[in-house]
Amino acid sequence: MDLEEINTIAVLGAGNMGHGITEVAAMAGYDVNMRDIKAEFVEDGYDQIEWSLNKLAEKDRLSREDADAALERVTPLVDMEAAVADADVVIEAVPEQMEIKEEVYRELEACAGDDALFVTNTSSLSITDLAEFTDRPERFCGMHFFNPPVRMQLVEVISGAETAEETLDVVEELAEEFGKTPVRVHRDSPGFIVNRILVPLMNEASWLVSDGEATIAEVDSTTKYELGLPMGTFELGDQVGNDISYHVLEYMHDVLGDAYEPAPLLEEKVENEELGKKTGAGFYDYENGDGVQIP
Ligand code: 3HC
Repeated sequence: MDLEEINTIAVLGAGNMGHGITEVAAMAGYDVNMRDIKAEFVEDGYDQIEWSLNKLAEKDRLSREDADAALERVTPLVDMEAAVADADVVIEAVPEQMEIKEEVYRELEACAGDDALFVTNTSSLSITDLAEFTDRPERFCGMHFFNPPVRMQLVEVISGAETAEETLDVVEELAEEFGKTPVRVHRDSPGFIVNRILVPLMNEASWLVSDGEATIAEVDSTTKYELGLPMGTFELGDQVGNDISYHVLEYMHDVLGDAYEPAPLLEEKVENEELGKKTGAGFYDYENGDGVQIP
C-alpha cells in the first residue's frame, strides 16, 4: 500500500493514547473512526479530543478553523465492523494485556479489509507475538506514540519477525504525515528503546521512595532540575499512567529478569487505583490539590 492510498484510519481504544492518536491523525487530515467497547468510553475520548483541540487553538498552536475541521473528521463508534470495514490502516491502542489484544485482533481480522495495514501502539509487548493473532504478519508492525501524542514528537516504528519492509516504509511515511519523527526499531525486544530506558528510571525512583531513601519531591526536583527532564519522574509517571508503567515492568520482569521487579510503591498505586492524572490522583493529587504531593 502507498501512502496516497490511505484515507481512512481506525483507532481501536479511546483511552489516553487512543484519543490522542485519533486527534493527531484527524489534525493531519485523515478521517478517523475511533472505536471502544462502550459508548461512555468513546464519548469520554471524544470530549478529551475536543478539550485538547480547544486548548491548542487557545494557545495559537492551531487555528480555530483547523481545530473545528479536525474534530469533524472524528467518528466515535462502538461497532467494530462499522469502525474498520473501510479503514486503510487500523491503529490498535487497547489495554496492555495479551488476552485483551488477542480478542480484539481476532474480531478485527474478521471485519477488516484484506489490504488494510494493522499497527499496534503497544508500549512493550512483542510485535511478533501480537502479529500471530492476525492473518497478516507481513502487514503488521509497531507504531508507538508517546503521551500526550499531540505534543510528543517521536514515534517508534517497530518491526516484527515477519513485517515486510514496505509496511515499515509506509508506516514511517504516515508518521511523518502526522507531523512526527519516526525512528525505526529493528529489534522486537521488551520496551523497545524508549520504555526500556524510561520505565526502569521511573521504577528506580519508586524503589528509592519505597526503601525510604528519598521523598517524591526530592526525586522530582533532582530529575527535573539536574537531569533536565521536562517533568519530574513521578510527574511523568502520573502523566503516562501508573498502570501502564506497571504492566510494562511486569512484562520486562517476566522476560528480562529480576532487575525489572516493580517497586512496592508503584504496585500500591495500581492496587489503590491511583493511576495518575486520568484518575485524579497518582503520586500527586489533581482533584483536591491541583498537583499536590500525596503523603
Ligand atoms: N493537548 C493540548 N494541550 C495540552 C495537552 C494535550 N494533550 N496536555 C497538556 N496540555 C496543556 C496543559 O493543559 C497546559 O495548559 P495551561 O498552561 O493552560 O495549563 C499546557 O499544555 C502546558 O504546555 P506548555 O508547553 O506550556 O508546557 P510544557 O512546556 O511543560 O510542555 C509537555 C508540556 C509537552 C507535556 C512537557 O511537560 C513534556 O514533554 N513532558 C514529558 C512527557 C513525556 O516524556 N512523555 C512520554 C512518556 S513515555 C510514554 O508515553 C510511553 C508509554 O508507552 C509509557
